Amino acid sequence: MKKRILSGMRPTGKLHLGNYVGALENWVKLQGEYENFHLVADWHLLTTDLDTSNIKDNTVEMVIDWLSAGIDAQLSPIFIQSKIKQHAELFLLFSMLVSVPRLERNPTVKEQAKDLGLDNNMAYGHLGYPVLQAADILLYQAHLVPVGEDQMPHIELTREIARRFNTTYDEVFIVPNGKLTEFPRLPGLDGKKMSKSLGNTILLSDSPDEIGSKVMQAVTDPQKIRLGDPGRPEICNVFTYHRKFNVGEVDQIESDCRSGKLGCVACKKNLANRLATYFEGFREKRAYYLQHIDEVRDIISSGTATAQKVASETMAKVYQAMKIG
Ligand code: TRP
Repeated sequence: MKKRILSGMRPTGKLHLGNYVGALENWVKLQGEYENFHLVADWHLLTTDLDTSNIKDNTVEMVIDWLSAGIDAQLSPIFIQSKIKQHAELFLLFSMLVSVPRLERNPTVKEQAKDLGLDNNMAYGHLGYPVLQAADILLYQAHLVPVGEDQMPHIELTREIARRFNTTYDEVFIVPNGKLTEFPRLPGLDGKKMSKSLGNTILLSDSPDEIGSKVMQAVTDPQKIRLGDPGRPEICNVFTYHRKFNVGEVDQIESDCRSGKLGCVACKKNLANRLATYFEGFREKRAYYLQHIDEVRDIISSGTATAQKVASETMAKVYQAMKIG
């Protein structure tokens, strides 16, 4: 039997290159070797945004991005957290196994609260974000969870909860491992964390023109002002993108930037072309799915049915181990 992977994202709509590099690309790579379960974490979204008006549309947009990037729904069920109530049940039981100070130490949740200006005013459910994530993962007995580096604290907590349950009641859960992508973080065009709210993203679905105009605005080495000035690739965002998406030319670009031979405008044009080509196949598939939304909805319902079966089996074991329910 293949080992299982559980991967998840919150349905924020169309995905950007940071989502791709930090997670999605890895999901696609791993799908032959493992059995992959792909979760749309819509309940998690509520922790940072109570407005639910776009969640359904954003779910479809995101799933289309997954499929267009190469997720094979025949191999890998795609499903929705809020359709499978066992996530909430297990979240409740797990919330008994973890202390409040332990949750308050989570650096990712702390950073989120700071970004949102919540300080000491965080919702109870937001503090429990990683506990719900532990339920997502352990419900499916996943061995592996592919994530970007910001998610590692949640995986660590998931492991602790699994061990705590197993020693308190019975050996029900597999203790999963996180799997970092080789390129865990791609900065936004301004060098800050890539995020829709900061307006510094390139979307996977952007047209070549949109890619071009966004790349032209990217921040490069501030000391390289005109052609001929020597640049410092190690502090340049555009260079980070070349390292990821332009492997064949990256060495040449590095030396031509350092020597001053390559100016930022030409370097950006090169990158924009490269990105447009890299995602050409993606855009074609995306156009297909947009024309076949019913197919996407069928994929989600059959994935949800598959996931539902596994979730029910796990919960039966949980209640048996706890001698309740
Ligand atoms: N916290 C993840 C993120 O923000 C989303 C997520 C929810 C997740 N449940 C998960 C990721 C389970 C992996 C496994 O990206």
